This record gives sequence, C-alpha cells and structure tokens, in this order.
Amino acid sequence: MRQESKGHHHHAGKSSEKYLNKEIILKELHIFPGEIILDAGCGNGYMSKEFSRILKNTGQVYALDPDEQAIGALLAETKDTNITPILGDITQRTEIEEASVDLIYLAAVFHGFTQGEREGFLKEVRRLLKPQGILAIIEIKKEPTPFGPPLDLRFSPQELREVIELSPLKLTDVGPFFYLQLFEKKK
Ligand SMILES: C[S@@+](CC[C@H](N)C(=O)[O-])C[C@H]1O[C@@H](n2cnc3c(N)ncnc32)[C@H](O)[C@@H]1O
Repeated sequence: MRQESKGHHHHAGKSSEKYLNKEIILKELHIFPGEIILDAGCGNGYMSKEFSRILKNTGQVYALDPDEQAIGALLAETKDTNITPILGDITQRTEIEEASVDLIYLAAVFHGFTQGEREGFLKEVRRLLKPQGILAIIEIKKEPTPFGPPLDLRFSPQELREVIELSPLKLTDVGPFFYLQLFEKKK
C-alpha cells in the first residue's frame, strides 16, 4: 500500500510537455470530431490546443485550471476557437454541465491531490462524464526519475486503479517517465 499524501503538492506553472509523447497519447485517446473534452489541470494548455486541432473546431475543449495566470493567458490566446478556458478546481463542482463530457484528461495532476480532493475529483468526474465517457490519467512513474515529486507521493498504475473507482481500460507508456491509464465510467 502507498503512504498517504502529506499535503498539497500543486506545482502550478510546470509543464510536462517536453517529456510526453503527444502522438502516442493522441492515438490512444481516439478523439472523434464533435467530442466534448475537458483538460483538467491544463497548465499552459498545450494539450487543449492539440485537442482543438484534432477536433477541427467541432465540439468543445474546456481548459480548466485554478491558476489565474495560466487561465488569463489562455483566455487571450483562444478567442474565436473551440477552447473555453475556465478558472476552476476539478476536485470541486465545476460550472460544466453534467453528463456532457466525452473525455476528461488529467496529466501530472492526480498525485498532488489529498485524499479528500481525490474523493471530490471522482465525484466530479462521475457527474461530468457521459455514460460512455473516458477518464485519461497521465502520471509520473513510481521509480527514480530526474525530476518529480517524492516516490511516496506517486501512484503506480496498480495503485491508481485501486483508488479510481471506474473500469480500467488500457495502460500505455507515453514517454520515459510517464504512463497513461484509461478508465471508462461504470454504468
Ligand atoms: C504539473 S502541472 C501539469 C499541467 C499540464 N496538465 C501538463 O501536462 O503540462 C499541474 C497543473 O495542475 C493544476 N492543478 C492543481 N490542482 C488542481 C485542481 N484541484 N484542479 C485543477 N487543476 C489543478 C496546477 O495549477 C497545474 O497547472
């Protein structure tokens, strides 16, 4: 069993961009035109922009983060696109309509949640996802890496599947230091 997180570890401003293989991630996410995607903890929004590019301005990308600077910058950059930046916290109820989201993407965010935040996150994920919706979590591997949080704050894929009470789908390596675990909403 993993040790309980000792507190917040929110590292606003860091981006996983240079460590992640975007092509593999986008292939695994099987995004279709018209989909509604939530990039939760979007940071600088680089993946929101990738999702928007793939959707070709159909559908909608919600780019959500509690970091005012990040959301302020995205608001200026994404006018007249299908990206809607939202200042918000995914461990609380958000302003997004229930059962409206096809895919929730959470990259390098989950390990920073306390147990209470994890519960709030799962509740909001269940509220937001459509019945066939997908939750995609990218996390740093639980092994020594040149950067990243202490090992006891990290989740192995198995530990992640134990705490996320949705149906696990595929596990994929998405770079030397990160993995992607997909989940499907339980009926
Ligand atoms: C390490 S960065 C990762 C950013 C981006 N997902 C990426 O892959 O580059 C973690 C991000 O999660 C955001 N974050 C922290 N707590 C959050 C919460 N409760 N809800 C939504 N986002 C949160 C931080 O503000 C930060 O932008």
